[in-house]
Amino acid sequence: MNRYLANTQKSRQLYEKAKRVFPSGVSYFIRHMDPYPFYTAKARGSRLVDVDKNEYIDFWMGHYALILGHSPPEIMREVKRQIEKGTHYGTCHELEITSAEQVAKMVPSAEMVRFTNSGTEASMYATRLARSYTKRDRIAKFEGGWHGGYDPLLLAVKPPFDLSESSGLTDGTLKDTVVLPFNDVNGVEDAIKKEELAAVVVEPVLGAGGCIPARKEFLKALREVCSENGTLLVFDEIITGFRLAPGGAQQFLGVLPDITVMGKILGGGFPVGAIGGPREIMDLMDPLLYARPNFSFHGGTFCANPVTMTAGLATLKTLENGTIISDLNKRGAKLRRELASIFERKDVDVQVVGTSSLFHTHFTDEEIENVHAVFRADRDKLAQYHTHLIANGVFFLPTKTGALSAAHTKTDLEKLLIETEAYVRNNY
Ligand SMILES: Cc1ncc(COP(=O)(O)O)c(C=O)c1O
Repeated sequence: MNRYLANTQKSRQLYEKAKRVFPSGVSYFIRHMDPYPFYTAKARGSRLVDVDKNEYIDFWMGHYALILGHSPPEIMREVKRQIEKGTHYGTCHELEITSAEQVAKMVPSAEMVRFTNSGTEASMYATRLARSYTKRDRIAKFEGGWHGGYDPLLLAVKPPFDLSESSGLTDGTLKDTVVLPFNDVNGVEDAIKKEELAAVVVEPVLGAGGCIPARKEFLKALREVCSENGTLLVFDEIITGFRLAPGGAQQFLGVLPDITVMGKILGGGFPVGAIGGPREIMDLMDPLLYARPNFSFHGGTFCANPVTMTAGLATLKTLENGTIISDLNKRGAKLRRELASIFERKDVDVQVVGTSSLFHTHFTDEEIENVHAVFRADRDKLAQYHTHLIANGVFFLPTKTGALSAAHTKTDLEKLLIETEAYVRNNY
């Protein structure tokens, strides 16, 4: 920590200024760090450079959006060309069609697509669409599931679940959401049968909830019980989309949702979200086919923004043949094994979890199957480990999942292992 303080004096000054204009000094509280965050001056490839000229190997990668690394030259070339042609048309344009076609080609269940500007918006419109289609009000989400800041999904993210995640959520909104146990087939079947749900919204890998993959049998059982009960299955693939496989977790696991919610990687480094699904459901967003009150609204000023579409399309095309993704998946598996063996050698109780190019370390001897186990683990030790890494040039957003990108070199991963070894040596 002393080293961090000594090396980040300009960041400390910026934080003092930031506290005057931002609540808690930051634009999004998860970016807050104790005693203060560093301020990034530039980013390229696998690296962040802060205003004090410290360099960090970045495993946060823009909230996992940057699977090709920061500002990949081949994508930036396209973006620069697009900027010359206009940044925001506010009209229809050909690129939005090509982009949607590309999504539909890659994501098995996405016959049709609509773009949004964030994952939160995509979750919001997907929820509405499911309600419009089924003509039911109630929805279900899982303990530990994070789908952004939309009221009906903003509950039961972190234990204790009897405390609200935010003020300002009305009882009326919350009463229409049912919370289900993750990875627990028996715990969900009855609820889905009984509740007459419009949708069950699930992350195929709990991201904010601790990087916990859903078991394939669990998702298969969800698929079956949803179909049997007229409930739409919504996969929130905002993290897993275009990462686990070119077609996301649904392709990786062979379980298809009715509606897919996308974001992050899809924007190629620019703000984005999207919903995908079959025509039968997506058509409800067409007021020419469905007059009020049956029409399901979606829209927004920056939807299908041409700069985002350019960066996103170029990124998806780069990922489409699966080479980069399968390489990252192999590197992720190896990294998880190597991290685990560092802790095992010193008998430190750590569960290294994750799948594909996502990984996390929980300081506990308990198997991690759900968010309760994540929060029973020693969170202080996890924060201490991440703080050690940050002070030594390896960036994780403290306590959060790490993600690999194509820009990470062998040396970058070795540095993570070396610093993990140093942390274990100094503390055990
Ligand atoms: C699984 C998941 N869903 C939804 C969201 C919300 O997306 P956004 O932050 O773009 O609104 C996130 C963001 O972290 C996420 O990880």
